[in-house]
Amino acid sequence: MTEALMTHETAGEAPSADRPLLQVRGIVKHFPLKGGLFGRSTGTVRAVDGISFDVRKGETLGIVGESGCGKSTTARLLVDLITPDDGEIVFDGRKLGRDLTLTELRRNVQMVFQDSYASLNPRLTLEDSIAFAPAVHGMTDADARRLARELLFKVGLEPKRFAGRYPHEISGGQRQRVNIARALALSPKVVILDEAVSALDKSVEAQVLNLLMDLKAELDLTYVFISHDLNVVRFMSDRVMVMYLGEVAEIGPVDAIYAKPAHPYSRALLASMPSMDPDSRTEAVVLTGDPPNPIDPPSGCRFHTRCGFAEAVCSREKPLLHARAAQGHSAACHVGGVDTGHTLSELPA
Ligand SMILES: Nc1ncnc2c1ncn2[C@@H]1O[C@H](COP(=O)(O)OP(=O)(O)OP(=O)(O)O)[C@@H](O)[C@H]1O
Ligand code: SF4
Ligand SMILES: [Mg+2]
Repeated sequence: MTEALMTHETAGEAPSADRPLLQVRGIVKHFPLKGGLFGRSTGTVRAVDGISFDVRKGETLGIVGESGCGKSTTARLLVDLITPDDGEIVFDGRKLGRDLTLTELRRNVQMVFQDSYASLNPRLTLEDSIAFAPAVHGMTDADARRLARELLFKVGLEPKRFAGRYPHEISGGQRQRVNIARALALSPKVVILDEAVSALDKSVEAQVLNLLMDLKAELDLTYVFISHDLNVVRFMSDRVMVMYLGEVAEIGPVDAIYAKPAHPYSRALLASMPSMDPDSRTEAVVLTGDPPNPIDPPSGCRFHTRCGFAEAVCSREKPLLHARAAQGHSAACHVGGVDTGHTLSELPA
């Protein structure tokens, strides 16, 4: 293994054991909507609206929620592909824009997207694609190529067969392996996987998921895993964050949330999940209709327009994230909160 592949610590900044690797604080991203004859602003899409969470070293944090709830925007904010309107990102104790540069953040936090083809330059060989970023970051051409071949091997593609091929000459699963190799080329600490396996056939998907698990253990990686497939998220994640209309509805250990979700939205989302066990399949599709428009989200609890437990307080006051029974589990719902004014103290079974 070359030095470039080893996980590296910069002198003097050893991470403390219990400090989260990534801390996201009150991050906001609103997209202006342009329209009309003169391209005037006609509104604002509140894609991510003041969310805070931690990613712990060595864990996989799953992010789930319906289409448009802000998962990809959150991911793009984490790697600074888009700039937040407000809030802060702290990596390994260092705040972006204070003692952490954008280059350092991008080297340490890498991303793999769903579209395996669009992410690769069609005119570059697989070896050149993987070697590109390390070469830009100062590695000699020979070292960058050696690293690219090592990474091809690591992601299960025989370098002799694959190094000189082009993206259109390989399958979707193989392309996604190349994208994973590319993401690993700068020895990042965190990899964000945004629907990274969603376009693959089930059997190929399983192989790539296993590869991701192996790489995580071998390279001591931390993952943020975004998927609409709740079974896959359960398989991959240590903790899960449930998003609704640009906010965090619930966050906590995967077992606690899947066994006993504390937020009615998570409950509805999980109830609509196809069970792996045919005997326990239910017809309980609780979640109906589309989420409201993120341009003009509902007042108070954003879920109140679809929630079967909504009371007057829900449209009046925004519920804050509040600790639940399991360690590290919290949910933003007036039910089960302290003195919230909601008549229920817990969700009915
Ligand atoms: N560049 C942009 N300009 C305007 N609106 C945007 C932009 N990017 C995202 N949005 C809007 O922000 C909201 C959140 O989008 P985002 O892509 O983060 O959702 P998502 O949870 O990843 O959805 P999906 O599950 O479909 O991938 C959506 O309403 C989307 O239309
Ligand atoms: S705060 Fe009210 S509307 Fe929101 S999820 Fe809880 S019960 Fe439902
Ligand atoms: Mg998305």
